[in-house]
Amino acid sequence: MPRAGGSRTSGCVYTPQGVDESSTHLFTERVTSATSSPTAKQSRLSWEGVRRAADKLTTPLLPDDYLTLINPLWSSRELRGRVEEVIPETDDAATLIIRPGWGWHYQHRPGQFVGIGVQVGGKFQWRSYSVSSAPVKSGRTLSITVRAMPEGKLSEHLVKGLTPGTIVRLATPNGDFVLPDPPPPKTLFLVGGSGITPVMSMLRTLDRRNSMGDVVLHYSSTTPERMIFRAELQELHEKHPTFTFRERHTDADGIFALDNGTLGELCPDWREREVWACGPGPMLDAAEGHWEAAGLEDQLHLERFSLALKGDGGEGGSLSFQNSGKQIDVDGATTVLEAGEQAGVGMPFGCRVGICHTCTVTMISGTVRDLRNGAEFDQPNEQVQTCVTVPVGPCVLNI
Ligand SMILES: Cc1cc2nc3c(=O)[nH]c(=O)nc-3n(C[C@H](O)[C@H](O)[C@H](O)COP(=O)(O)OP(=O)(O)OC[C@H]3O[C@@H](n4cnc5c(N)ncnc54)[C@H](O)[C@@H]3O)c2cc1C
Ligand code: FES
Repeated sequence: MPRAGGSRTSGCVYTPQGVDESSTHLFTERVTSATSSPTAKQSRLSWEGVRRAADKLTTPLLPDDYLTLINPLWSSRELRGRVEEVIPETDDAATLIIRPGWGWHYQHRPGQFVGIGVQVGGKFQWRSYSVSSAPVKSGRTLSITVRAMPEGKLSEHLVKGLTPGTIVRLATPNGDFVLPDPPPPKTLFLVGGSGITPVMSMLRTLDRRNSMGDVVLHYSSTTPERMIFRAELQELHEKHPTFTFRERHTDADGIFALDNGTLGELCPDWREREVWACGPGPMLDAAEGHWEAAGLEDQLHLERFSLALKGDGGEGGSLSFQNSGKQIDVDGATTVLEAGEQAGVGMPFGCRVGICHTCTVTMISGTVRDLRNGAEFDQPNEQVQTCVTVPVGPCVLNI
């Protein structure tokens, strides 16, 4: 079921019900490419044609109901994947090798994230994870690498409880924290903890394409044992003389402070480098401040794994979802997105942390507050990012 936000991004629309129809277009392309002669072209099968015929044959059930019985990856209603392997990386992190089903294309850009929906305790939990593998045209799998967060609803389950063979829901790659092609001549990666994952995809891509230029990686982790991909990074360093890998073990060495000249000592030409930074919020805030102070903010690319909350919550209020005919009262800590989901509205969403804009809907009336900075939106028919806003009084939404 396509949602209102479907045309705004590159096909990354998660809804509890399914995905946009790009998956069906892909299916049509595959059928037609196998029938390229002129005669074959006249009798070209379209996905809609197949579906209509199958609908008649299989009514009252839908073809999907039969196809997914044969192979759960053959769903045209939603993107799915099978977890092939769960590879432990550290005590609390693991790489999941996933084989996507129908409708998936393998061309993510190095650094992008995907959405993954997994049932935990009878309820689907959706989260975003950076793809840690390099894009491979002929590949049939992709990997994500997850660190288990204590008390987290999904990550612990992905790392410690997920068994190979599990079918998960997927949403297509998204995000602009990406390595350009060709890469810049001089690059600096500033990484903390699980922030290595998108950078690993970039480094693996540079290695595969044999285009490792002058690259410096500064990677902080509490201990060497908790450093994800440490051995592979050391191998890359040995293989590519132009790749410098600097480790910092913060339990022993303390936190890497950007403002005390350490960066200048570690990487004297940092001003000349294009920078990608991913890690804990305070590290990214410091990087933002540092590059801004140097007037070089255009060279800095940041990826945040969690919402940076700087504004107050709202007062809460009564949300009406006009097209769905649903209504719910929520407190000022519940986002409009969460409220809609609680009310049973098929809300569109992507990253859930304010990056991708997939969740944007029109607010017909009312006021919402942005949790990131306290900004209020109160104009009639204003576009609001539901994953980062909370209601301030009654609101009516066009969904
Ligand atoms: C673009 C993007 C890319 C990402 N890529 C990666 C990646 O490659 N690898 C990775 O590991 N993560 C990544 N993340 C983070 C990931 O999406 C999840 O946010 C993370 O795994 C935590 O999910 P969770 O369900 O376990 O935690 P949630 O249940 O969402 O909880 C979030 C936080 O709240 C805390 N919390 C929850 N409930 C309680 C409670 N009752 N009491 C106290 N504290 C509580 C948890 O400890 C956790 O710190 C990415 C996020 C984004 C936005
Ligand atoms: S879901 Fe990505 S910005 Fe809201």
